[in-house]
Amino acid sequence: MRGAHSYVVQVLAWIVLRLVVQGHGLRGVGLFRCSPAVTTVAWLPWCGSCHRSRKDHTMADPTTDIPGYWDRYIQGVTRQGPEEAPVLEWTQYPGHGPGAELLGEPSTALELGFGRGDAVAALASRGVKAAGVDVSPVAVRTAQQRWEHLGAEFHHADVTEFLGGTARRWEAVYSAWGAAWFTDPSVLFPLVHDRLEPGGRFVFSHASAVPGSYGVQGMYGAGFNGRRVWVYRWAYEPQEWENILTGHGFGQVRVWEETAPEEDHVGTVIGVAIR
Ligand SMILES: C[S@@+](CC[C@H](N)C(=O)[O-])C[C@H]1O[C@@H](n2cnc3c(N)ncnc32)[C@H](O)[C@@H]1O
Repeated sequence: MRGAHSYVVQVLAWIVLRLVVQGHGLRGVGLFRCSPAVTTVAWLPWCGSCHRSRKDHTMADPTTDIPGYWDRYIQGVTRQGPEEAPVLEWTQYPGHGPGAELLGEPSTALELGFGRGDAVAALASRGVKAAGVDVSPVAVRTAQQRWEHLGAEFHHADVTEFLGGTARRWEAVYSAWGAAWFTDPSVLFPLVHDRLEPGGRFVFSHASAVPGSYGVQGMYGAGFNGRRVWVYRWAYEPQEWENILTGHGFGQVRVWEETAPEEDHVGTVIGVAIR
């Protein structure tokens, strides 16, 4: 009888654990700064047991390519109510760290990888001619529906194709946990430099890298039992980012780690450079 009781307790504990893991979804990955509204086990490519073909882990992940990967990300992040004023923030902790002042006082600005479009909307609502580019069709549609009435522009393209195919220049180009984290800097930085007005600012942020794990980092976007969708990102220590920016012709370069509001929590790397 005691054995049966303990078995029931173990099964209940397992069910609760599964619900907690599913509820944390992408936030548990630590790659993203938004909270997911909906998620499934298929979102957890890092999950220690997901490499096994257990029946409850074989839910097909429909992701087939990079835009599709980001579409799923956008569908999973919490929606802000239209009544909430959009904000431009650089860290993963709401209300923490510097804000739009890092961009100076630009009259034109471009965000690389805008996601939900809140930062573009925040600048547009202050009178900046604000634009963004994102590779996810879902991100573009969603941001247009939410924020186009502010006069903000949302373009659908890969950043390198967009920057390489335009003659426009901006006074500020920025990326908050966006495409500057997910694009090879040796390809992206010359394009950004070229499309900034002289004296214009480039600002970016991303999660602090795990110590010792610098440079290009890869992950399977559709999980370990899905299609081979390779998602790459680049992260360095502040000093190395400064060398890379300087090497691409930027001046007044400053890259630092913004510490988290709580001790021992994950920090944010923030970089500012001038053309
Ligand atoms: C982690 S999200 C961050 C979104 C937003 N900046 C934020 O702070 O919530 C990364 C965004 O970058 C976009 N992205 C990633 N790689 C890209 C690329 N090569 N070109 C354009 N957008 C890209 C993704 O579609 C996604 O919307």
